[in-house]
Amino acid sequence: MTDTPITIASLTKMKAAGEKIATLTCYDAGFTHVLEDAGVEMILVGDSLGNVIQGQDTTLPVSVDDMVYHSACVARARRRALLVVDMPFLSYRSPRQALETAAQLMQRGGAQMVKLEGGGVQVETVRVLTGQGVPVCGHLGLQPQSVLKVGGYRVQGRDQDDARQIMADARALEDAGAGMLVLECVPVALAREISRALTIPVIGIGAGADCDGQVLVLYDLLGITPSAGEPARFVKNYLADRGDVGEAVAAYVEEVKSGVYPAAEHCFT
Ligand code: KIV
Repeated sequence: MTDTPITIASLTKMKAAGEKIATLTCYDAGFTHVLEDAGVEMILVGDSLGNVIQGQDTTLPVSVDDMVYHSACVARARRRALLVVDMPFLSYRSPRQALETAAQLMQRGGAQMVKLEGGGVQVETVRVLTGQGVPVCGHLGLQPQSVLKVGGYRVQGRDQDDARQIMADARALEDAGAGMLVLECVPVALAREISRALTIPVIGIGAGADCDGQVLVLYDLLGITPSAGEPARFVKNYLADRGDVGEAVAAYVEEVKSGVYPAAEHCFT
C-alpha cells in the first residue's frame, strides 16, 4: 500500500481496472486510524451517525453542525483515504442552500466530496455544486432520509418502472457531474446494469458484488449496531470471529477486494 492520497480520479481508474473499492463509514479520529491502517480507500462520514452515535431512530434530526463536527474529527486523522461527507436532511432544499451546506462541510469539516440523496429534483443541484467545484456523490435506491415518506427501509427497484427510474436517475446524476454514486438496497441485477452503464464508480450497500466497491456502516461490521431486532440482510459482523478491531476491518477490506463480500446471502433479487 502506498501513501499516495486517493482521489476521485484514482477511484475512477480503479473502476476501469476492475479493482474493487473498499469504503466504510467513520465518525471519529481513533477509528480513522484503524481504517487507514487497513487500507480503506474511501471514508464516509455518513448521517448514519444519527443512529449509531446519537441514538436517534432515523437520520432526520442530524444537523449540518453535527456533520461538520464529525467530519473535522475524521479529517484530522485522515492520511490517504478520500473523505466523503453526507449533506443531512433538508440541508440541500435548493441549489443555493446546497452550496452553503457544502461550504460548511468542506471549509470547516474538511470534506473532499459531499453526498446527497435522490435523483430527479437533485440533478440541478448536482449541476450547480459541481459547476462551483464541489465534488458530489449521489445516493439512489433506498434513501434513509426519505424513510418517513416511503414508510420504512425497503428494497428499491424491484418492479420494472422503479428499476427504470433508478437507472434514469443514475445516468442523469452522472451527466450533471456527479463523480460517484452510492446504490443502497437494490436487486443485484439492477446494480450490475447501473455499474456497467456508468463511468463513475458505483459503491453498493445491499446491492450485490458487481458494484465497483462496497460500503458498510462501521458499527454494523463490528456488531455494535444499537438498533433493536435483526441486522439488515447485507450486514456482516467481522469482529465475531476475531479478537481485534483492526483485524476485523482488514478482513472486510480483503473480502471486498477479493469479491468474497458480499455473498449471495447478503444480496437482494
Ligand atoms: O449514512 C450512511 O452511513 C450512508 C451509508 C449507509 C451509505 O449513507
